[in-house]
Amino acid sequence: MITHAWSVRRLHAVDDAQIDELAGVLIDCVDGGASVSFMHPLTRDRAVSFWRRVAQGVAAGNRALIVAEDAHGLCGTVQLMFDLPENQPHRADLAKMLVHRRARRQGLGAALLRAAEATARECGKSLLVLDAVTNGDAARLYERLGWKRVGVIPGYALMPQGGLCDTTVYYRNLGG
Ligand SMILES: CC(C)(COP(=O)(O)OP(=O)(O)OC[C@H]1O[C@@H](n2cnc3c(N)ncnc32)[C@H](O)[C@@H]1OP(=O)(O)O)[C@@H](O)C(=O)NCCC(=O)NCCS
Repeated sequence: MITHAWSVRRLHAVDDAQIDELAGVLIDCVDGGASVSFMHPLTRDRAVSFWRRVAQGVAAGNRALIVAEDAHGLCGTVQLMFDLPENQPHRADLAKMLVHRRARRQGLGAALLRAAEATARECGKSLLVLDAVTNGDAARLYERLGWKRVGVIPGYALMPQGGLCDTTVYYRNLGG
């Protein structure tokens, strides 16, 4: 049996210490060049504000937040967004898949994705949708784990240091 250096769990409430650690994960990803909604440099204040809004969404039941922890603290996370139009109760958006650089390439991204899919099923969702930078590390992960590619939107967002990148939209049918 493989013993991992991290464990994965769902958080139903997020405290200030966890917000601070999640801000650290987000800042590390942006420092590493990930296009995850923020421009570089991402200040701690902006990162903490983002996670405070996430914490409010978790408390309101609009989001499911999954985290991974290693010996140094929180090192990975992913979210399911449930706050969708009333004609899409079976669906969630998957967002903010983030693994700190210290914990990458050990299977944690895959574990977070599987945990998010399991959580979505538990919450009665049968369809997940996400977008990712075309041909990036995350896109490879989603395709490896069976997500279906819908198509590419050219020039969708800026990379954190500037310059447009294409985005690929994916979906995963959990019903079958
Ligand atoms: C995308 C991301 C989440 C992947 O996280 P990760 O923990 O490295 O993912 P995994 O370890 O499951 O897989 C990554 C690679 O490691 C490999 N790997 C997995 N376990 C391994 C092991 N034990 N030994 C060696 N390699 C391993 C996988 O095969 C995969 O290889 P590939 O990139 O060549 O396809 C991470 O790179 C990240 O946070 N990037 C920045 C943020 C980002 O872009 N998020 C996506 C938003 S859509």
